Amino acid sequence: MGRAFVYVILGGGVAAGYAALEFTRRGVSEGELCIISEEPVAPYERPALSKGFLLPEDPARLPSFHTCVGANDEKLTPKWYKEHGIELVLGTRVKSVDVRRKTLLSSTGETISYKFLIIATGARALKLEEFGVEGSDAENVCYLRDLSDANRLATAIESSANGNAVVIGGGYIGMECAASLVINKINVTMVFPEAHCMARLFTPKIASLYEDYYSAKGVEFIKGTVLTSFEFDSNKKVTAVNLKNGNHLPADLVVVGIGIRPNTSLFEGQLTIEKGGIKVNSKMQSSDSSVYAIGDVATFPVKLFGEMRRLEHVDSARKSARHAVSAIMEPEKTGEFDYLPFFYSRVFAFSWQFYGDPVGEVVHFGEFEEGKTFGAYWIKKGHLVGSFLEGGTKEEYDTISKATQLKPAVTDLEELGRVGLGFAETV
Ligand code: FDA
Ligand code: NAD
Repeated sequence: MGRAFVYVILGGGVAAGYAALEFTRRGVSEGELCIISEEPVAPYERPALSKGFLLPEDPARLPSFHTCVGANDEKLTPKWYKEHGIELVLGTRVKSVDVRRKTLLSSTGETISYKFLIIATGARALKLEEFGVEGSDAENVCYLRDLSDANRLATAIESSANGNAVVIGGGYIGMECAASLVINKINVTMVFPEAHCMARLFTPKIASLYEDYYSAKGVEFIKGTVLTSFEFDSNKKVTAVNLKNGNHLPADLVVVGIGIRPNTSLFEGQLTIEKGGIKVNSKMQSSDSSVYAIGDVATFPVKLFGEMRRLEHVDSARKSARHAVSAIMEPEKTGEFDYLPFFYSRVFAFSWQFYGDPVGEVVHFGEFEEGKTFGAYWIKKGHLVGSFLEGGTKEEYDTISKATQLKPAVTDLEELGRVGLGFAETV
């Protein structure tokens, strides 16, 4: 016994929401499309969880940030799915998939069959246990991937007013959560193994500007080391963390952001996996022609770099979703996915955008000061391949995006630093 759909989206996150909107734009009939998600709520804009959701005053709460408000598009509330005849199967984990038979088995025992499957299972947060540290299920140790994590963190923040938080990890979650904790008047110490924050993207010069600002806000940085163990009280709440460098830090709250792992396990042995994700072609189609993958879980060809990449950012989730739906519904009219990687973040009053690939030589430009506009270009084999800009206007971001897409030749790096944004304007 089970139900049959033409299209099934497995996973109900950012990519699923944008795919649903695209299906309705291209004309899907009632009862043809189903979204099945472990989360109990309709797809929402995950980036809100580390930003607006954690504000002390007037925090963002659903339904205000359902997809697709993040792209200034329609807001897809549960009512919207109903009105469009889309079946939302929420709070339901898929526990196995048979790609050959084109069926999914849910945790409730239901079999769902499909003609086309879109995998949008995203990723899960890595756990400290995977690095040999025990005890991260304590009530005041928080990860941040989904709404239930965010609710847990918001509650922990409320009960830690004026207390001490230790943030483990110096990536996106670490930086965005540290800023939110400071705004909530919590004392923050950040601990990470690298020499500076956001090591996957920032140059030491860029990192030092943000670190100085955080330090001025009272954040302490302990770099080049990792957590080795927790100390607990009799209620199994963490009271302190011990670091490899011998430091002992009292903690009312611990926030952990140490990276993610794509949720591919349902498909291992059934589909080709590459770079940790489900390998797809330029139409987001996997090694099985009825199965597509989008968002964080997909490894796709980035034409601009001539390489397969798996990206972990909302813009690629949104655009890969639209592309997959277009490729399924109008295969003849759909070309190759030609995507320019785009990342952004907002912390305190800062706001930056990055386009392209952060590889090669770096040239900084602008005034490296809070409240000013500054940035960097990455040059590989004589061509611009990456652009970072803090504090830009919409037009300036558009300009660096367009210039990076064109990979213009750069001959004089000193001159590039002098003209800065002016270079992108002349491309
Ligand atoms: P996503 O994780 O959104 O959704 C996956 C869905 O699949 C979930 O609903 C999950 O429950 C479900 N699922 C998984 N396995 C399942 C199973 N077996 N059965 C049923 N359901 C299953 N990016 C950016 O560019 N700018 C930003 O500011 C931020 N900010 C940000 C903040 C926070 C807190 C996080 C966690 C992430 C960001 N990101 C971001 C990253 C961005 O949110 C991310 O790239 C997208 O959410 C990816 O979208 P997906 O739909 O691929 O996965
Ligand atoms: P990340 O990859 O950005 O950073 C992981 C960090 O973990 C590293 O910088 C490192 O400092 C640290 N680390 C690794 N191993 C460690 C260890 N054993 N002990 C201590 N620290 C360790 O991942 P994240 O910050 O966890 O973010 C999770 C996901 O959410 C990513 O996919 C990210 O792209 C996404 N996200 C994106 C944004 C954004 O784009 N603005 C915001 C929030 C989250």
